[in-house]
Amino acid sequence: MENNPVFTIFESLPRLGAGDDEHTAKAFSFIAELPKGGGEILDVGCGKGVQTMALARLCPSCRILATDIHQPYLDVVEEKIGAEGCSGRVTTVRASMDDLPFEEDSFDIIWAEGCASIIGIENAVRYWKTLLKQGGHIMISDILWFTRTPSDEAREFFAEFHPGMMTEDEVFEVIRDAGLELVGSFRLPSRVWEESFYGELRKRFGALEEEYADDEGALMVINGLKRQTEIFDKYHDEFGNTYCIMRKPE
Ligand SMILES: C[S@@+](CC[C@H](N)C(=O)[O-])C[C@H]1O[C@@H](n2cnc3c(N)ncnc32)[C@H](O)[C@@H]1O
Repeated sequence: MENNPVFTIFESLPRLGAGDDEHTAKAFSFIAELPKGGGEILDVGCGKGVQTMALARLCPSCRILATDIHQPYLDVVEEKIGAEGCSGRVTTVRASMDDLPFEEDSFDIIWAEGCASIIGIENAVRYWKTLLKQGGHIMISDILWFTRTPSDEAREFFAEFHPGMMTEDEVFEVIRDAGLELVGSFRLPSRVWEESFYGELRKRFGALEEEYADDEGALMVINGLKRQTEIFDKYHDEFGNTYCIMRKPE
């Protein structure tokens, strides 16, 4: 799986999905009660740890375990941990998000920006719930349809690029069916997609095409990303990143 060229293509990006510290903080603000003395946070699919470090700043008394499957990303997170003086309370573990080496009922918060759909949102929510303490929260942000009736061009693109993309309502139902309370949800403004992710990708397409000129698999990924930015320009009212904050009842 790690042979997928997407891992190396994304290594040059500052963040690996759309989002920013402001919206990480907004999602975190839905979590009203934190355990005395901090809490245990699991950051799943942490990438280069942008939101890991934002969480560390938002909750200086929390302990954070940042996990990802790609070690070079975790190496970047380790550098950030050192630079921000968080060694000891922020640590990294290489693990697959569908097979995490942790006990049941271990975490107060499970955080997953832009990655739950990698294993399927329903699988993710049901599995991660088992690792969560009672009264704990899960936050997922993912690319979702805002409409049940998207334009043909957008629907056809995602049928190939991201099959199984769900509507917001379908995800809310998955959350309720898993026995979790939906505490809140909000959409990432489309300007943040451009500022945090697509803008950075657009700057790199030319160089990436040169770098991977002999790699058919990588060129397919780069073309898919290019096409995604074009689809987003045309149809950003129809899909985007939705943050969902949910709670495991006591
Ligand atoms: C879209 S990126 C999001 C990264 C980060 N949360 C962010 O918003 O910048 C998805 C992340 O999931 C990781 N990933 C992919 N498959 C995984 C798996 N099976 N288990 C754990 N992490 C995985 C990738 O390495 C990548 O860092």
